Amino acid sequence: MDNKIVLTGIKPTGMPHIGNYLGALKPLIDLSQNHKTFMFVADLHALNSVHDAKTIKQHTYEAAALAIAMGVNMENTILFRQSDINEIYQLTEFLMNVTPKGLMNRAHSYKAIVEKNTMANIDADSGVNMGLYTYPILMAADILLYNSDIVPVGKDQKQHVEFARDIAGYFNNLYGEIFKLPEPVIGEDCGIIPGLDGRKMSKSYENTIPLLAPESELKKKIMRIITDSKTPAEPKNPDESTIFQIYKFFANEQEVAEFRKMFLDGGMGYGTAKTILFEKINSVLSVPRAEYERLMFNTDEIDKILSNGAERARIIASETIAKVKKAMLG
Ligand code: TRP
Repeated sequence: MDNKIVLTGIKPTGMPHIGNYLGALKPLIDLSQNHKTFMFVADLHALNSVHDAKTIKQHTYEAAALAIAMGVNMENTILFRQSDINEIYQLTEFLMNVTPKGLMNRAHSYKAIVEKNTMANIDADSGVNMGLYTYPILMAADILLYNSDIVPVGKDQKQHVEFARDIAGYFNNLYGEIFKLPEPVIGEDCGIIPGLDGRKMSKSYENTIPLLAPESELKKKIMRIITDSKTPAEPKNPDESTIFQIYKFFANEQEVAEFRKMFLDGGMGYGTAKTILFEKINSVLSVPRAEYERLMFNTDEIDKILSNGAERARIIASETIAKVKKAMLG
């Protein structure tokens, strides 16, 4: 264990698919095994697009249950709900005053909307609320509030962590070395995880496999993977097969080598290959699935974990706010 502090936020958006898990959640779970980790459900970050309290609350439970079930190391981890820490609202407001507006204009997610609106010949800021526009400032506050060193995120969030670094720099230039400069850590490139149709697994292609779907749904999805029309007898190219590509992420080296050989040798039909893939994924995920379901049935237990986490997070958060207030307001 080194002394670096790991922090990440999980946006409550419902059950992730296995591509999300491998790209973003798994690297975080791995880091939590040997680092002090702050992990929170970023419910405030959902507010700019989800205007329904029930949905946010339900998804918050799901995100927390998922993290616990998938094996975040709870000894090392403070798990909490972002909105439970009042200091987050304070730090966001303070950081507003050292953040150039132009920096927000450069955020990829904001720029993408502006581009889309411009193409459609409507007002550039149509559909953009201030929560969306200032999203990176709230995220910088998340990161800086808890003195984070390492922020594991998916590729799409890298710019936001860089912004947090920039904002910390602006602040420190004006007020002295108050904030540590955080580093983004992008999950080692596990390559593109293909979806059921062979394209990148993505919600927008409707080709995903949910991480903790009930067993019957998992099986159904896997049986729907698109293959070519080779007969069982024919040798097959594993590197062109979605079945094999997905298998690689769940099996150990020896199993992967054996499965590869079965493709190359011929004699295995795609139906059999899919069954082998299903059994592998199911064996890896059946314990977490049961734990997830147990927790979702006992949301009181999740509440307890989150409020205990909030109490511990608040200790650090209030120290940071005291320093910032003193530096900015005397
Ligand atoms: N913005 C992140 C996402 O959409 C979630 C998030 C919020 C986050 N605050 C964070 C991630 C702080 C890392 C650090 O997934």
